[in-house]
Amino acid sequence: MKKIPSATVQRLKKLARAAAKKSHSPYSGFPVGAAILAGSGKTYTGANVENASYGLCNCAERTAIFTAVAGGEREVRCVVVYTPTKTAASPCGACRQVINEFGPQARVISICDSDDLLDTTLDILLPRAFGPKNLD
Ligand code: THU
Repeated sequence: MKKIPSATVQRLKKLARAAAKKSHSPYSGFPVGAAILAGSGKTYTGANVENASYGLCNCAERTAIFTAVAGGEREVRCVVVYTPTKTAASPCGACRQVINEFGPQARVISICDSDDLLDTTLDILLPRAFGPKNLD
């Protein structure tokens, strides 16, 4: 994987924090923001979008990825997720699976309200993932 410049990572962190402000999370009261770096070099953001039918809630990471894909992107290089917590929280299983579709080796960074940080890659978070190649 090509190295992602630290200035880009810094920008993604700012975008993820800002994106949480757009969250629709009246049920959990837990606003999450995400920012991704796509294959074109463009960045996309997302927030969690909840629903009165709770099972339909969509995580911030998936909102950002679906927005990127709908914008024509097919590669995710980096995902930054912000949670309003004291310790960094890594993406849920559903989001890991969706990241795998477009970025099996994507860098995944979690930030929060303290200096705690998770900085890893998707293949570490989702080893032996089921993906497009399994359908060949
Ligand atoms: N959530 C995210 O958006 N991303 C995560 O990585 C963890 C959980 C959302 C889902 C739900 O709206 C709220 O946080 C509480 O689980």
